[in-house]
Amino acid sequence: MGALEGRTVVLTGASRGIGRSLAGCLAAEGARLGICGRDKAALSELEGELGRPVVTAAFDLCFEAPALDFLAKVRAELGGIDVLINNAGFNPRKAPLVEVATEEFDSILAVNLRAPFLLMRECARDMKEKGGGHVINILSTVCHSDMETMGAYTAAKEGLRALTNVFRKEVIEDGIRVTAVYPGGTDTDFRPNSRPDYMKPSSVADAVLTALTLPEDLVVHELTFRPMVENNF
Ligand SMILES: NC(=O)c1ccc[n+]([C@@H]2O[C@H](COP(=O)([O-])OP(=O)(O)OC[C@H]3O[C@@H](n4cnc5c(N)ncnc54)[C@H](OP(=O)(O)O)[C@@H]3O)[C@@H](O)[C@H]2O)c1
Repeated sequence: MGALEGRTVVLTGASRGIGRSLAGCLAAEGARLGICGRDKAALSELEGELGRPVVTAAFDLCFEAPALDFLAKVRAELGGIDVLINNAGFNPRKAPLVEVATEEFDSILAVNLRAPFLLMRECARDMKEKGGGHVINILSTVCHSDMETMGAYTAAKEGLRALTNVFRKEVIEDGIRVTAVYPGGTDTDFRPNSRPDYMKPSSVADAVLTALTLPEDLVVHELTFRPMVENNF
């Protein structure tokens, strides 16, 4: 029997990269999965690969209404939510802050900060009712490095770091574990160029799954890891 048998897990950003690998790991552990992204075809293909009933929804996380509809569909078809993994994220390009348009800044904050906030708020209600749960937020080592040309993305991830740490204190009495994951460079479509010297998305997925399936008498607050080529931390 898998470690997540019978648990309802919501995973964002499942259509590609780390999220796609993670969806496979979670399904292999028996999780009942609710997955989302914008790319409907990629999600359908993934659903076929997983070979089990999953709830999929294609929508833009910049908008609240479809996100709430997705959670309602997950609850109706799979039951109350036990685990939320806020994985979706993006940085459209590298540019100094003086070149970033207001709309671009807003969309970066909407996906990387606002959406995880509203999913945490909504899913915590299910978890409280069930007497516990686990929220995992995928942040980034940019939180440790204030990287120039990635200002809005860094601000969003650092904002999510703060929210994650506050949220952990606020929900601990409800039995809800909150884990902040800080991966370093990973070879995905996140950036336009391929980086075979970076971590494989499947390796990052393994690390996240480990944080999720450790014994229940501990909670991982923070998990930071990097590829071996990143040595200037
Ligand atoms: N790759 C790295 O080096 C790295 C390092 C540290 C942290 N991270 C973080 O790890 C997480 C996963 O990144 P990744 O490397 O796997 O990137 P990726 O391959 O670009 O995948 C990003 C995922 O997020 C989804 N997404 C992006 N914008 C969205 C939107 N507006 N609405 C809904 N879904 C959206 C994408 O789905 P659609 O395309 O279907 O919309 C996709 O499934 C992100 O939070 C990222 O910030 C990545």
